[in-house]
Amino acid sequence: MSAHRIASIPGDGIGREVTPAVYEVLEAVGGRHGLEFAYTEFDWSCERYLREGAMMPEDGVDRLRGFDAVFLGAVGAPGVPDHISLWGLLIPIRRAFRQYVNLRPIRVFEGIDSPLRAARAGEIDFVVVRENVEGEYSEIGGRLNRGFPEEMAVQEAVFTRAGVTRVLDYAFALAGRRGGHLTSATKSNGIVHTLPFWDELVRERAESHPGVRWDQEHIDALCAKLVLDPARFDVIVGSNLFGDILSDLGAAVAGSIGIAPSANLNPEREHPSMFEPVHGSAPDIAGRGIANPMGAIWSAALMLDHLGHPEASAEVTGAMAAVLAETDTRTADLGGSATTAEFTGELVRRLGR
Ligand code: NAD
Ligand code: IPM
Ligand code: MN
Repeated sequence: MSAHRIASIPGDGIGREVTPAVYEVLEAVGGRHGLEFAYTEFDWSCERYLREGAMMPEDGVDRLRGFDAVFLGAVGAPGVPDHISLWGLLIPIRRAFRQYVNLRPIRVFEGIDSPLRAARAGEIDFVVVRENVEGEYSEIGGRLNRGFPEEMAVQEAVFTRAGVTRVLDYAFALAGRRGGHLTSATKSNGIVHTLPFWDELVRERAESHPGVRWDQEHIDALCAKLVLDPARFDVIVGSNLFGDILSDLGAAVAGSIGIAPSANLNPEREHPSMFEPVHGSAPDIAGRGIANPMGAIWSAALMLDHLGHPEASAEVTGAMAAVLAETDTRTADLGGSATTAEFTGELVRRLGR
């Protein structure tokens, strides 16, 4: 088989520390399955922004177009406003490649202590399906009357019939392949235009997926239920902002934000999809070699799945689970003392067997 062509953007901070862990793991699992990966690394980052005035070149998106997938570590650095770093790189890629599904699985692994007393491994296993290209993340709006008492900021949220329908259909179908239960995150009691429309479309799409049991929860109550009774969830679908918040909350419930993976998917495969951990560049721990590489490695497993290698993908997540269940090797965010390299080394040894 010819090599999978991967565009790799390590980015900033711990993004650069967890990306090499991904290369190591893919090499190990690839060796067992006859898979090869050809990486083209792009130095697009805040460092590039400070040097050249842009996070990526003007034709950056076009340069990624021919790849089988994009892997991204994380971007963001103190000194560069976040809206510049993220709207200069991550968000344009998600939009240009119509990666309208952001798939974010959450699991409590055996051997990891959830901060929730009642959370047991195996019982918590759900997926957040986040709408990824519209909603609250919009460029429409503005700032007026800067410096005056009348100063104001307006930000429009954009919910389109086509955009909401396609992500709902993805979420319903995913729920049909999993536990058959979909929860829609809403807030139609307080937001009077967009979320009532979202709810209407959920009811409409539910008719085409009669095998799926569905319910809806207001986002505030949903956050509380995720903490009090996370085992009740199977697939949760939410708008761009709600999905963002739910995925960090879910990651924390599962023990650490360092674990959580994400797949920015273009389900039609007209464009490359992008795989990245949920966490950011973590400037507070960057440069110390102690970042948890699990979120990045699990994201690479999602990438293997997307590239058509489900067995290789399952081996990676299985080996990750085995390291946690059978050894004390874990990074500081999970209460251990292993470095990024030590955790990765243990995982790669297991994959080699
Ligand atoms: P963050 O995820 O970077 O960090 C939040 C906290 O979690 C920090 O205390 C950090 O040390 C810890 N943490 C995160 N990942 C970890 C890991 N793998 N191992 C151990 N601990 C980990 O979120 P933030 O502090 O809000 O953002 C920092 C920067 O990253 C900002 O510039 C932000 O905009 C950016 N960001 C980028 C992405 C991305 O590139 N996809 C995602 C989120 C935030
Ligand atoms: C994520 C991140 C990004 C988002 C930020 C950094 C723009 O938090 O991928 O979850 O909100 O999408
Ligand atoms: Mn986020």
